[in-house]
Amino acid sequence: MYADMEQLHELFTKILDSGGLQKIVFSKPKDQTVKRTEGRVIILKGEKVLQFETFYANGKVNHQNVPMSEAENELEKLTAQFGQINIFTTGGPCEILISSKGKCRILNRISKTMIPAEAENNDRKRHYILDPKVAAPFFFKLGVCSEKGEIFDKKRSKFRQINRFIEILNDCYSSLPETGQLVVGDLCCGKSYLTFAAYYFLTEVKKRDVKMYGVDLKSDVISFCRETARELGFCGMEFFCANILEFDFPKTPHLVLSLHACDIATDIVLYTAVRSSAKVILSTPCCQHEMANQLQCEQLHFVKEHSLLLQKMCDAFTDALRCKRLEAEGYKVITLELIDPEETPKNIMIKAIKTDSTPEKRDKALEEYREALEFLKVHPFLDKLFAHEHRKS
Ligand SMILES: C[S@@+](CC[C@H](N)C(=O)[O-])C[C@H]1O[C@@H](n2cnc3c(N)ncnc32)[C@H](O)[C@@H]1O
Repeated sequence: MYADMEQLHELFTKILDSGGLQKIVFSKPKDQTVKRTEGRVIILKGEKVLQFETFYANGKVNHQNVPMSEAENELEKLTAQFGQINIFTTGGPCEILISSKGKCRILNRISKTMIPAEAENNDRKRHYILDPKVAAPFFFKLGVCSEKGEIFDKKRSKFRQINRFIEILNDCYSSLPETGQLVVGDLCCGKSYLTFAAYYFLTEVKKRDVKMYGVDLKSDVISFCRETARELGFCGMEFFCANILEFDFPKTPHLVLSLHACDIATDIVLYTAVRSSAKVILSTPCCQHEMANQLQCEQLHFVKEHSLLLQKMCDAFTDALRCKRLEAEGYKVITLELIDPEETPKNIMIKAIKTDSTPEKRDKALEEYREALEFLKVHPFLDKLFAHEHRKS
C-alpha cells in the first residue's frame, strides 16, 4: 500500500505511544558514507531514551541518545535520509520503502494491539561498588530500592552519587589505619544515605570494626537514622542531633565525610575535621553564598556585571581557598568531580589526606592563602573559624 507522510507519521506515533518498539533499522542511505542507522529504546539515568547507532562505511559507529519527547521528530528526520525502514515491534514487523521521489510504500504486519517491549536498562549494566542486589537491606530501608534490589527511578541519581562517593573512599582507604577500630564521622548527614553506605562498605566489604558517627541538626531524621541502624543491626553507628559547630566527636575520627553540607556548613565540616586531626577528609560542598556578597576586588569588579559568572567564579574561589587552607594545615588536597556534571551543579569533591608536610610548606600555603584573601578582599567563614572567632567557649 502506498502511503503519504501523514500515514507514516501516524505509524511512528503508534509504535512510540504503545511502547511496543523493539528495534527500527534505517537502510539504503542517500549519503554513501553511511551504511545504516539502528534505533532502540533504552533506559539511561532512569529515563527512557531512543538510542541511535549509526554505522559508517569507514567502519566507525556513532551513538546518539534522543529523549522520547523528541523521538518522533528524529524518526521523521531519518526517514528523509534513507530508502528503507524496517520496524520490529511486539505486535509484528513493518517494512517501509521510500522512492527517490519521496513516495512511501508501507508493508504493515503490525497487529492492532502491541504490548510494551522491555527497554534495555543501560544504568544496570554499570558495575557499582555497592551492588543493590547484595547490599539491598540498607538501600531498601532507606527507600532507594525495592526488596529485590531494583533501584527506584527517583532515587537513581542519589544511588549513583553514593556509589561514586564510596569509590572515592575506596581509593583513599590505604591512607587510613590498617588495623584496629576505624572511627568515622559524617557531618550534616541528613537521612544518612552516605553514612549507611560507608558503614556497610567498611564493615561488610572491608571487614573492619567501625565506629560511625552521624551528626545533623534535624531531630526527625536523626530519630529515623537511629531506628534504621537498630533495625539493620548496625550496632557501631551512633547518631547525634547537634549543631556541628558545637559538636565534639566522642572518639577521634580517622575519616570525616560530608555530602552537600549547605553553604558555610562545609566550612564547619572542614574546620571540625582539621581540629579533630582526621587523617582523611572527603567533602562535597553544596550551595555557596558568602563570597559573592563580600568580594570587593577592584580588578575583578566587572565580573559583577554577570551574576551567573560571578556565582561560578565565587564557587571556584571558595573551594580553591578551602583547599589552600587545608594545605596550610598539612593536608594534601585534590578536587574531583563526584558524578556526571549534567546531573548536578553541586559536584566538586574535596579530598584531603593528612601528610607529613614540613612547617615551611605549611607556612608557604598559609602565606599564599593570606595573599589571595587580601587580593580578593574577602574574609571567608573558614578563616574566621580558624581564627577562633566562632569557636565554642
Ligand atoms: C543538603 S542536606 C544533605 C544531607 C545528606 N548529607 C545528603 O547528602 O543526603 C544538608 C544537611 O545539613 C544539615 N545541616 C546544615 N547545617 C548544619 C549544622 N550547622 N549542624 C548540623 N547539621 C547541619 C541540614 O540539617 C541538612 O540535613
